[in-house]
Amino acid sequence: MKIGIIGTGMVGQVLAAKLAADGHTVVVGTRNPAETLARTSPDGYGNPPFAAWQRAHPAVKLGTFAEAATHGEVLLNAASGGGSIQALTAAGAGNLEGKILIDIANPLDFSKGMPPSLSVCNTDSLAEQIQRAFPGLKVVKSLNTVTALVMVNPAAVAGGDHHLFVSGNDAGAKAEVIRLLGAWFGWKNIIDLGDITTARGTEMMLPVWIRLWGALKTPMFNFKIVR
Ligand SMILES: NC(=O)c1ccc[n+]([C@@H]2O[C@H](COP(=O)([O-])OP(=O)(O)OC[C@H]3O[C@@H](n4cnc5c(N)ncnc54)[C@H](OP(=O)(O)O)[C@@H]3O)[C@@H](O)[C@H]2O)c1
Repeated sequence: MKIGIIGTGMVGQVLAAKLAADGHTVVVGTRNPAETLARTSPDGYGNPPFAAWQRAHPAVKLGTFAEAATHGEVLLNAASGGGSIQALTAAGAGNLEGKILIDIANPLDFSKGMPPSLSVCNTDSLAEQIQRAFPGLKVVKSLNTVTALVMVNPAAVAGGDHHLFVSGNDAGAKAEVIRLLGAWFGWKNIIDLGDITTARGTEMMLPVWIRLWGALKTPMFNFKIVR
């Protein structure tokens, strides 16, 4: 498939590496490709600069947000929470029209330090903000409740015996995302929570996720729903 990834951080890199290794053609989008490639210092999490990562993954193309959106039959939003609307605006509404966007972004606000708070919650969500801003896009919130390495390899935690969620207004788009997440990464247990407003719930799992990360001293865990 042709896949467009909006975002060059750890999530964009991990997704791009896995999808390209499996033969998909991937364009990763950034604000300014030349500036992104010119960065020499590690990112905010201590990961190597993008250029070093790209040298190890030459099959993945870097482009503008608009180039990634134009390329992708399916799009993944791996921009920061605060930058997502700006990134998608730069991608161009016309390039998003009618496409599925798997929205992975969390509206984390680090402005007052750690732990971050949520910049939107309770009565709204980032996924809803994106859906309202781009009505022609089929936004499906998913993957945002696990760390990047678990997104692409659920079997790495308890053999994959744990859950992921989808939220979105378009039933066909959600069914396709459930199929893709199974085919691409091996996700077996995916709960359809309902329309896009249900993304409030999974975005509000992040404050719990962050405390668990601190307590467990590893991001390699997930939620399992038992009943
Ligand atoms: N890290 C994880 O394991 C994990 C797990 C679940 C969900 N998430 C969510 O996934 C998303 C990506 O996380 P990440 O850690 O890979 O990267 P990140 O540092 O949160 O985001 C990096 C991306 O956001 C873009 N960006 C930042 N500010 C922007 C702005 N004002 N306008 C346009 N674009 C902007 C950057 O653009 P440039 O390329 O131009 O710099 C870059 O592509 C986040 O929303 C995060 O909450 C992360």
